[in-house]
Amino acid sequence: MGTNVRFEPSGKVWGAKRSMSLLDAAQRAGVPIRTRCSGKAGCLMCKVQVSADKEGLIGEPTLAESSKLGIHSATGLRLSCQTLLTGNPGTVTVEVPEDPLKAIIRRKLAEQEDDSLW
Ligand code: FES
Repeated sequence: MGTNVRFEPSGKVWGAKRSMSLLDAAQRAGVPIRTRCSGKAGCLMCKVQVSADKEGLIGEPTLAESSKLGIHSATGLRLSCQTLLTGNPGTVTVEVPEDPLKAIIRRKLAEQEDDSLW
């Protein structure tokens, strides 16, 4: 039994093993997270918001992650490629931000829908 990771807003859950990164768990669960640096803490595109971790389900930020995110890592904002799961039993919730390109398309479609009402 490992750590369950619930990805929102999709609601997909993945049972992750110890030392698996959130990015790896997301990819295995079929949850898209943008990356450009192949998980080397270089692109900062894989940011996710992690719920409060009272059960010790995720590891502390690495030095590379802390230096990239600064104080934001204390607010639950993490680099999914650098965030390792402890494998302790429990469920951690991870909010995956919407892809910026998809957000633009969704906004444009909503605007067109509003315009067609007139
Ligand atoms: S994948 Fe580039 S910083 Fe995480």
